[in-house]
Amino acid sequence: MVSPKLQKRVNQILKSFEVSQDLILRGVDHFIDMATKGLETKDDPEALLMIPTYVTSIPSGEEKGVLLAADLGGTNFRVVSVTLNGDHTFSLVQSKSPIPIDLMTGTSAELFHWLAEKVQKFVETHHGDSIETGGKFKLGFTFSFPVDQTSLDSGTLDRWTKGFDVRDAIGQDIVALFQQHLDALKVPVKVSALANDTVGTLLARSYTGANKEGETVIGCIFGTGTNGAYAEKLDNIKKIPESVRNELKANGVTEMVINTEWGSFDNQLQILPKTKWDEEVDKNSANPGFHMFEKRVSGMFLGEILRQVLLDLYREGLILKPYAKEDDLPHRLRTPWTLSSEAMSLFEIDDSTGLKASELKLQQMLRLPTNSDERLVIQQLTRAIAHRSAYLAAIPISAILIKVGAFDGHHVEVDVGADGSVVEFYPGYRTMMRDAIALTQLGPKGERRLHINISKDGSSVGAALCALSEQDEE
Ligand code: BGC
Repeated sequence: MVSPKLQKRVNQILKSFEVSQDLILRGVDHFIDMATKGLETKDDPEALLMIPTYVTSIPSGEEKGVLLAADLGGTNFRVVSVTLNGDHTFSLVQSKSPIPIDLMTGTSAELFHWLAEKVQKFVETHHGDSIETGGKFKLGFTFSFPVDQTSLDSGTLDRWTKGFDVRDAIGQDIVALFQQHLDALKVPVKVSALANDTVGTLLARSYTGANKEGETVIGCIFGTGTNGAYAEKLDNIKKIPESVRNELKANGVTEMVINTEWGSFDNQLQILPKTKWDEEVDKNSANPGFHMFEKRVSGMFLGEILRQVLLDLYREGLILKPYAKEDDLPHRLRTPWTLSSEAMSLFEIDDSTGLKASELKLQQMLRLPTNSDERLVIQQLTRAIAHRSAYLAAIPISAILIKVGAFDGHHVEVDVGADGSVVEFYPGYRTMMRDAIALTQLGPKGERRLHINISKDGSSVGAALCALSEQDEE
C-alpha cells in the first residue's frame, strides 16, 4: 500500500492524464477540419501539413526486383537490400547503425557523409559482384521528417523532429544532398525515390497483404515519432495547381498518397490535453511549439513525461527521500530523454512480487534505487501516460477513416498497416487504441470492422517499391 499522502497526489496526476470520450469526439472533428484545410492551402499555420507525395499508385503485390533502401528517421540508420518476389513476398538483408548523437545536431555535410559511408560499406559487403560489373543501384530513401515534396525524387526539408536539429539542411533538397555525398565517395547508387516512413508502410502493406481483411487505407507509425499516410482523391488536393492536376489526370491518375504529418495536429492545443509536464517536455525539445500531438503520443516522449512527473514528486518531498537535494539525484534521472518507452513496457506489465523486475530496470537504466511504494507509483503513472497516448492515437486514425468514407458500402472491412516500436511492442497498446476507436464517431461497429496489422520493415520495403516505380517510368 502506497502512503495515503503520496497516493492522493498521484491520483490527482493520474486524473490529469485521463482522456474523455468528449475530447476524442471533438478531436476527430477538429482533425477532419484541419486535414481538409491542409489539402486546400499551404498558408494556414493551424492546418495539417498534408504533404502530397507524388506516389499515385498502390502496389499490386506483383512487383519484382532487387532494390536498395536507406532509412533515416529514428534512432538507427538502416541500409537494406530488398528482393521483391512478385508474389506478395519479399526478403531483405540489412545493416543497422545507431546514429551518433552529435550527428543529430551537427551539420548536413557531417550527417550525409556518414550516411553515404554506411551505404558504401553495405554495397561493398553485399553487392561487391555487381560493382565489378559496373552496375548502378536504385535506392529508395525513407526520410521520416516533414519534407515539402516536389516530385517522387526531390523535396526540401521543412523542419526536423524527434531530437534532430541539423539546421543548415532545412530548405535543402534532401535527395540532392544525399546524392552529392554518395557521388563524392563514388558509391554506385542513384537515389531514385524519397518516401516518408508512413508512405512506405502503406505501400508495403498493400504489397504484402494478399489475404488480409479489407483494403489498406492508412499506413502509420507509432515509434520514436508518429505519423500517418493515406490515398486522397486528386480533386480534393486543391493546393496542387489545377493545371498540374489536369496533367496527372490525363495520365490516368485519380489519387495521390498524402503524408499527413499528424505529429503536428493541434499545435495550438485547442483540443489536446496539456499538463505542466507536457509543457516541460516541449520546452526541452528541439522543436518547441511543434509536433504537439507527437509529444503526447510517441515513444521518444512517453518516458520523458514520466521522468518530469517523477522529478516533481521528488521536489514535492513525496518520493526518493534519501536524496537531500536535487543535485544528489542519480545523474541519469536528471538527464532528459534517459527514461525509455521500452522500460515503460516492462513497468506496465510487471507483476513480480514487490515489482522486482522494475527495480532492476530502474537500477540498470537510471542507476536509481527505489522502494516498492515508488515502484507502484511509477507503474500507475506509466499506465496513465501510455493509456493517454493510445487514446489520443485513435483520433487521427478514426478521422481519416471517416474522411475517406472507408466504411461506406456493405460489410466493408478495413486494414490499417502500422509500424514502430510503440505499436509493435508496448503491451496492450493496440487494444487500448481499439477501445478508444470504439468511443469515436465510428463506434463499436467500426472498431469491429477495423484491422490494425503490423507491417514489419514496411518503411524500407515501401521505399524500394517507390524506387521501382521510378525505374518503370524510365
Ligand atoms: C516525422 C514524420 C515521421 C514520423 C514517424 C515524425 O516526427 O515528422 O515525418 O513519419 O515522425 O517516424
